[in-house]
Amino acid sequence: MSAGLLAGKVALVTGAGSGIGRATCRLLARDGAKVIAADRNLQAAQQTAQELGSDRSAALEVDVSSAKSVQGAVAEALKAFQVAPSIVVNSAGITRDGYLLKMPERDYDDVYAVNLKGTFLVTQAFAKAMIEGQLSGGSIVNLSSIVAKMNNIGQANYAATKAGVISFTEVASKEFGKFGIRVNCILPGYIDTPMVAVVPDAIKQQVVQRCPLGRLGQPEEIAEVIAFLASPQSSYVNGAAIEVTGGLK
Ligand code: NAI
Repeated sequence: MSAGLLAGKVALVTGAGSGIGRATCRLLARDGAKVIAADRNLQAAQQTAQELGSDRSAALEVDVSSAKSVQGAVAEALKAFQVAPSIVVNSAGITRDGYLLKMPERDYDDVYAVNLKGTFLVTQAFAKAMIEGQLSGGSIVNLSSIVAKMNNIGQANYAATKAGVISFTEVASKEFGKFGIRVNCILPGYIDTPMVAVVPDAIKQQVVQRCPLGRLGQPEEIAEVIAFLASPQSSYVNGAAIEVTGGLK
């Protein structure tokens, strides 16, 4: 991507205090966007924003699983740069892995609430703001996962939500096309972030062996594709689910 492609745009990134979300904030800012780093962990979001500079970045606290919190985030985001974000990246996500027969209802509900309902709440609220603001060239990027296709043992809750994100993305792309808003999702493979740090080493080794590129991915390697989907370079990409896995299937 080249610098300046996102000049004049405001982007909102959830999960911006860590991993893929934080790397995405860096690259969107590199490409000229003003970036609102949103996370349930305000301190972490502030760290991301601080790194980018206060003239081109702001931090905000949001719990994507709460409609009230997301509504508040829309109001805060509008205040930050006096215009609604036309780029929204849904990167907030959690895992609560465990075998299905032993999975507490709470672990199912929590993963659903953040990964799938959170994507719905943020997408709905910010798409409305884009439409009301009559913004052109809107782009929403959702984080699914290759686990939506691998369907790993111990990840019934996570896999189901990430498969749901693919369907949700496709529906949104069909409904929002007429407003000039594109909606796409990415299926990352195993990326070296705090989320994957808790995966047992033996499983990570298996993943690396199965991956044609023979390594985990870096958060920036996902963020580059997100920056592309956010930009006019991808103006005819809509409703897509793009695997970024180093070839891991
Ligand atoms: P991470 O654990 O490093 O960061 C997730 C961020 O989301 C954290 O800053 C956390 O505070 C925030 N968050 C969690 N719940 C939230 C809520 N309710 N409201 C607002 N913020 C919340 O995770 P990572 O690795 O950066 O993952 C980002 C996204 O990419 C997630 O949706 C994840 O499922 C997806 N993904 C990650 C992969 C990986 O290998 N790291 C692979 C495939 C998909």
